[in-house]
Amino acid sequence: MVEVPKLNPFNPNFPVHPGMFVGRLGEILRLESYLLQTRSDQPLNFLITGERGIGKSSLMNYLIFVASGEIPVDDTEFKFLVIDTDIDQSTTRLGLLKKIELGLEKELGKTEKARKFLSFTWAFLQRVEAGGFRLKSAEEAEHDQTLLDRFAYSLAETVERVCSPAESMDMFNANYDGLLILVDEADNSSEELQLGSFFKLLMERLQRRGCGKVMVGLVGLNQLRDVLRESHPSSLRMFDDIQLGRLTDEEVNRVIDSCLQKANLDNQVPTSIDEEARDLLVALSEGYPHFIQQFGYSAFMADQDDTIDRQDVINGAFGGGGALELIGDRYYRNDFYNKIQKESYRQVLRIMADNLDGWVTKKEIRAKFKGKDSLLSNAIKALRDRHIILSKEGTRGVYRLQHKGFALWIKVYTTDPAAIESSVNLDADDDRS
Ligand SMILES: Nc1ncnc2c1ncn2[C@@H]1O[C@H](COP(=O)(O)OP(=O)(O)O)[C@@H](O)[C@H]1O
Ligand SMILES: [Mg+2]
Repeated sequence: MVEVPKLNPFNPNFPVHPGMFVGRLGEILRLESYLLQTRSDQPLNFLITGERGIGKSSLMNYLIFVASGEIPVDDTEFKFLVIDTDIDQSTTRLGLLKKIELGLEKELGKTEKARKFLSFTWAFLQRVEAGGFRLKSAEEAEHDQTLLDRFAYSLAETVERVCSPAESMDMFNANYDGLLILVDEADNSSEELQLGSFFKLLMERLQRRGCGKVMVGLVGLNQLRDVLRESHPSSLRMFDDIQLGRLTDEEVNRVIDSCLQKANLDNQVPTSIDEEARDLLVALSEGYPHFIQQFGYSAFMADQDDTIDRQDVINGAFGGGGALELIGDRYYRNDFYNKIQKESYRQVLRIMADNLDGWVTKKEIRAKFKGKDSLLSNAIKALRDRHIILSKEGTRGVYRLQHKGFALWIKVYTTDPAAIESSVNLDADDDRS
C-alpha cells in the first residue's frame, strides 16, 4: 500500500481558523459588548495589542466571524459590515481612505442600485485620485481637513443607508447593525499618516453627523500605543486597550487536542500523542500560540509511527530547519545580531542563557564575563534599553531573558566566537602532540 502523507493540522504561518481558536474568552466577551454598544449608537473603539505571534490577527479574525454573524453569540446574531485592512510604512492618508472605500465597494456593490449609490457618494475620492492628489503633511494640511470632512460625510451617508431597515434591504439585500473598521499591523503606521489624529478627527466628524454606528479596531505590537500618542496625545483615550498575554498550559493543551482532532478528521490513519511528548510541547511553547503551532507542526512532521512521542518533539524542535531555528529566525535573530552590534553584549546574553529565563544577578554575570566592569555595565544597560533583557522590579542588578526559547536558541543555534577560538587552539595542540 502506498503511504499517503498526512495533512499537518498545526499551522504556524497563518491566523488560526475560528473553528480551532482556543482561549481568549474574556477578550471575546469584551469585544462582543463593544459590538452591542455600537449597534445601539454608542460606539466603542479598541486596540488589540501584544507581542509578535501572541495571536492578535487570529483574535481579529475571530471577531470578524462574530461581527458578521458567521459565529452566533448566545441569542443574538450580529450583522456588521466589516472592513478589514492593514497598513505598512508607505500607507498614506489617501491610501487608507481608499482602502476603506474599496472595502465598502467590495462588500456592498452587489446590486446595480448599490453600485450606483456608491459611485455617486464616493465620487470625490475618484476625483482626488485622478488629480494625482498626494498628501504632504504641512502645506496640504488644509486640503487634508477637507478631504477628511468629505470622507466622513460619505461614510456617514453610506452607514446610514446600510443600517436603515427599509432602504438597505432594497439596495444591498441586507440590513446591517453598523460598520466595523479593522486595521491590522497598525503599529507600522508612518509618522506622516498620523494614525491617532486621523481616527480621532474621523470619529468626531462622524459624531457630529449623528453617525454612531461606526467602530474602529486597531491591531498591532505594543508600540502601537506610542504611535497613537505621538500622533495625537489624547487619541489613546478613545480606544479601549485589549492586551493579549500568553495562553495557560491548559489552553496550550487544548490547542494540541484541537489540532489532533482535526488531523484525525482529515487523515485516514489517526495520530496520537503520549503524555511525555505533550508535556514537552507545553513546556517548549511557553504559552505562545505561535510557538505551540510551530513546535507542534515540526513534531507532527517528525513522527513516523502515528504516535508523537518525546523523541519526535525533540527531533522536530532541534534539528536543522527545526522549530526552534525557524522561531529564532523569525523572532530572535534580529535582536541578537542586528539590534546589538557588540560581541560583549552577546557575551552577556550567552552567560544569561545558561539560566534559561531565570533571574541572574549582575554578580553572577560578572563572575563569568571576560572584559572590564565598565564594558559589562554598558552591555547590561544597552540590553535593558532595547528590551532584550528584563530587570526585576524593585531590585537592582537582577535580570532575565524574556523567553526560554531565546535562551535555548542562543545555545543551540548561535556560535560563540570564544568557543570557536578555543576549539581552534585545541586543534593546534593536537597537531603538536
Ligand atoms: N487562540 C489561538 N488558538 C490557537 N492558535 C492560535 C491562537 N492565536 C494564535 N494562534 C496561532 O499562533 C500563530 C500566531 O498567531 P497570529 O494571530 O498570527 O499572531 P500575531 O498577529 O499576534 O502575530 C498562528 O500560527 C496562529 O495560528
Ligand atoms: Mg498579526
